[in-house]
Amino acid sequence: MSAGRSARPVVVVTRRLPDAVEQQLAREFAARLNPDDRPLSAAELADALRTADALLPTVTDRLTAQVLAVEPLRARILANYGVGFNHIDTATARARGLVVTNTPDVLTDDTADDAVMLLLMVARRGGEGERHVRSGAWTGWRPTHMLGTRVSGKTLGLVGLGRIGRAVAHRARHGFGMRVIFHDPYPPPAAVVSELGAEPRASVDDVLREADFVSLHSPATPETRHLIDARRLALMKRDAFLINNARGDIVDEAALVAALQHGTIAGAGLDVFEREPAVTPDLLTMENVVLLPHLGSATQETRVAMGLRALENLKAFFAGAPPRDRVA
Ligand code: 8YV
Repeated sequence: MSAGRSARPVVVVTRRLPDAVEQQLAREFAARLNPDDRPLSAAELADALRTADALLPTVTDRLTAQVLAVEPLRARILANYGVGFNHIDTATARARGLVVTNTPDVLTDDTADDAVMLLLMVARRGGEGERHVRSGAWTGWRPTHMLGTRVSGKTLGLVGLGRIGRAVAHRARHGFGMRVIFHDPYPPPAAVVSELGAEPRASVDDVLREADFVSLHSPATPETRHLIDARRLALMKRDAFLINNARGDIVDEAALVAALQHGTIAGAGLDVFEREPAVTPDLLTMENVVLLPHLGSATQETRVAMGLRALENLKAFFAGAPPRDRVA
């Protein structure tokens, strides 16, 4: 190995990534890949921080204050693979001089598609119907069989009108002629909102009271933890549906289960969970709930693009330039 090659920064890649990304990482860096795709323990994450110049973590890596307290700390950047970074204690990272980056934009469309998929599946009983056919229970067409709820023309309430919320609004309005209302404490510029044809509401509560479908697109922060709790679920219409492909922590999962059991709301489409991969067992038995395994960005195209974006952030950082997606 030449001196130049050995001087390349050491990057620990915590999970398997699409081949094209791993190959490029191995070309550009002294990449320590994870061919077995086994999640790293807290001790292994700490060891990576002690022995590598950078980490390329994912949502399954809990980079807590305790893990980040490692001594001596060699790593200088956490180039997160994903737009959400609530698994990283950014305050501690900052205090320890670690730069944190994420991968926005490249996953917006696929994640919006995933929200729309959940919405359609739960409204039109897609999961239930599929289970019905596969189980051999289907006896044939009949006018009253498995009637769902119309989506077209209904009111979609968005909690959060960031990149993904806006992409969902666009699909809902132009694909399904839905009326779109939203609340966002940091709304986009008025011109963006009016081009989307989305109507602002003064509070999350106002959105919940009015919407036929509520879709969550906020980041997971201390302020949004359990934003959707028992009180707010009770504000929703009894025939309304809740969609969440943002982060599990935004919903009080126990309160959601109770609301579904009591018929407070009509159903839910969930891609994320409070303690994923654990799912509250009661949800598994409910036909009016669609459960997906955190598939928001899970397309070949987007997972490659996320990897290349993380790689771009690493390259900029080690070239001494500000990485474009710095979040801490
Ligand atoms: C990823 C996501 O699959 O980007 C995010 O925030 O939730 C998903 O796109 C996951 O977080 C990868 O770390």
